[in-house]
Amino acid sequence: MGYHLNKTVVLVGLMGAGKTAVGTLVAQKLGVPFLDSDHEIERAANMTVAEIFTRDGEPFFRAKESQVLERLLVGKPCILSTGGGAYLAESNRALIAKHGVALWLRADLELLWSRVRHKTTRPLLRTDNPRETLAGLHAARTPIYQNAQIVVDSEEGLSLEDMAQRVIQT
Ligand code: S3P
Repeated sequence: MGYHLNKTVVLVGLMGAGKTAVGTLVAQKLGVPFLDSDHEIERAANMTVAEIFTRDGEPFFRAKESQVLERLLVGKPCILSTGGGAYLAESNRALIAKHGVALWLRADLELLWSRVRHKTTRPLLRTDNPRETLAGLHAARTPIYQNAQIVVDSEEGLSLEDMAQRVIQT
């Protein structure tokens, strides 16, 4: 018997916050389904997020992201991890508040950077100075993520297991 979720728990936060890794573990521990919006977009398009950005551009990706969010949110309650930009559109936030509960995985810039710096999969960080780019996103998005109903801090040195426990305890 799995845990009974009343509402979908939507993990939001910047790239490198651990949304997918933490969400997967939380869902596994609670025995509830796990879904990931980026993964669903990739599956439907049969392309990676980076390929979609390159071929069709960010606005196209954002439209797909909103569609996928809506489809997943009206489905059965689950743990849903989202791409770092999914919480930015007001309409997406309204949809999330209506059908679920937003949980912000908050982490400081240094920790986020240490996790994403060697990855090449993030189209938004394909700039001349990805560290600066991430800093800009961090500054611009923090006030938006603050709209989430629940905040869980991710700190250097915490294991995935610790993070999952923190989420479950909220
Ligand atoms: C994005 C974050 C990515 C992905 C896309 C855009 C963003 O997801 O959706 O590259 O705008 O922050 P992760 O947060 O899982 O890296």
